[in-house]
Amino acid sequence: MDGRLATIYDVECPWGRDDDFFLATVGETPAARVLDLGCGTGRLTLALAAAGHTVTGVDPDRASLDAALAKPGADRVTWIEGTSGVLPRAAYDVAVLTSHVAQEIRAEEDWTRTLGDLRRALAPGGRLVFDSRDPAARRWERWNPCDSRRRLALPDGTVVDAWTEVTEVRDGLVSFVHHYLLPGGDELRSSGTLRFRPEAELRAALAAAGFTVERIHGGWHREPVGASDDGELIVTARAAG
Ligand SMILES: C[S@@+](CC[C@H](N)C(=O)[O-])C[C@H]1O[C@@H](n2cnc3c(N)ncnc32)[C@H](O)[C@@H]1O
Repeated sequence: MDGRLATIYDVECPWGRDDDFFLATVGETPAARVLDLGCGTGRLTLALAAAGHTVTGVDPDRASLDAALAKPGADRVTWIEGTSGVLPRAAYDVAVLTSHVAQEIRAEEDWTRTLGDLRRALAPGGRLVFDSRDPAARRWERWNPCDSRRRLALPDGTVVDAWTEVTEVRDGLVSFVHHYLLPGGDELRSSGTLRFRPEAELRAALAAAGFTVERIHGGWHREPVGASDDGELIVTARAAG
């Protein structure tokens, strides 16, 4: 990610109800050793450390980690550039993947490997908590230039016009482009592809990796699946003891 996109990401994704959920859920284990896999620019990672947890943030994207490192409190977190392959064994009480990191791990073999790595990185009985959008909610249908148009004010005062368009929906994968029009006419683009896994698929992959699913919520106020406009599958699973 370009450094300017990391700045835009932080403006687009301020603290939200999802962060409240993850902070409270991790807090069920006080003073936990926490892994934030796909920590990005560190919004939640830093809050977890400030709450008294011992936190490791892991992400493959250098620009995101640099943005995280520049924030107050960054010295309380261990930051690692990489993916789940770098994780030590039985080192964490809780692992989180937030803001749909799980959906960025698209290939089934990568997802299987990531869950296996997480299972080994968690202490026996440790918890894995992550969000994945429910394909049944078809959230991508709102990612069109009309519904998604928004105006962002960056910290330096620059005002950016933004919109999102879906470029392909196929075989459980949704590809999209975020457009950011800068004053003067330059445009930044950020494209991505997310895998939308149905609940049954998530449950099967977790069981195969040695996790027991404790609960799956459909929204940030802990609604049942399908009962919230959030359209989420928010998973809490426990590593086999
Ligand atoms: C939407 S951002 C979420 C960042 C952060 N968790 C948050 O809540 O703001 C997705 C992040 O997942 C990271 N990511 C992509 N593939 C990954 C993988 N295989 N393992 C770990 N992180 C990955 C990206 O680099 C990016 O920082």
